[in-house]
Amino acid sequence: MNNVYQGKVLVAGATGKTGQWVVKRLLHYRISVRVFSRDKDKALAMFGDSVEIVTGKIQNAVDIGQAVKGCDAVISTLGSSSYSGESSPADVDRDGVKRLADEAAKAGVKHFALISSLAVTKWYHPLNLFAGVLLKKWEAEEHVRKVFGQEGRSYTIVRPGGLKDGEPLLHKLHVDTGDRLWNGFINRADVAELLVLSLLLEKAKNKTFEVVNDIQEPQTNLEQYYDVLPE
Ligand SMILES: NC(=O)c1ccc[n+]([C@@H]2O[C@H](COP(=O)([O-])OP(=O)(O)OC[C@H]3O[C@@H](n4cnc5c(N)ncnc54)[C@H](OP(=O)(O)O)[C@@H]3O)[C@@H](O)[C@H]2O)c1
Repeated sequence: MNNVYQGKVLVAGATGKTGQWVVKRLLHYRISVRVFSRDKDKALAMFGDSVEIVTGKIQNAVDIGQAVKGCDAVISTLGSSSYSGESSPADVDRDGVKRLADEAAKAGVKHFALISSLAVTKWYHPLNLFAGVLLKKWEAEEHVRKVFGQEGRSYTIVRPGGLKDGEPLLHKLHVDTGDRLWNGFINRADVAELLVLSLLLEKAKNKTFEVVNDIQEPQTNLEQYYDVLPE
């Protein structure tokens, strides 16, 4: 699958652990990448001149507007890291993602792919002790479905289990819908691959699903898992 997508893709959260894999997999498919980062030096050190870099804050709609301008798709791997302040679930997982979706839609972006989480519909889940992180992600999901579920646009929302490091395509995947899975882990690289595939596959459009790694078994590609998503 070389040269399969002609558009430019903005990656928000590109300097994070999953984001770096998203960039790697986009470049693997020779897809043109722009990253949106609050830290230009960090992005430059990671990606050099293999990507375009736009610096700005996820709190600032003007910065985001500049980042999404001219892009065909956005992949968000943003994630909060503190209880309060500019890296909190409210600021990043909810408001940051919502703002990104709004500015992307305004700029004519056609597809929005988002990393969310298993258990995102479960208000009583212990992870919500971290400043209601799952509730914030749920609000962001709903917003993305509303804005990008409209005619002429599409979304894909991937809800992974616990994230691990490691290469992509080393495991079979278990996918489901309806937030019924309670546990499981998945390599960030596989999540990245699914997000990137969502740009390319019609059957991935307007889907929200959960995913964890199944048994270790090398995979030639992950496209087949979009075929077996329950309605
Ligand atoms: N950990 C798990 O087991 C697990 C399970 C399910 C879902 N998830 C979700 O999966 C996603 C990716 O996880 P990960 O481990 O790859 O996350 P990560 O390494 O912490 O990366 C998060 C990214 O978000 C960016 N970010 C954080 N606060 C920001 C702010 N205020 N403004 C702009 N950017 C900001 C970070 O930028 P900097 O590089 O500048 O810090 C980084 O690029 C997250 O949404 C996470 O909640 C995680």
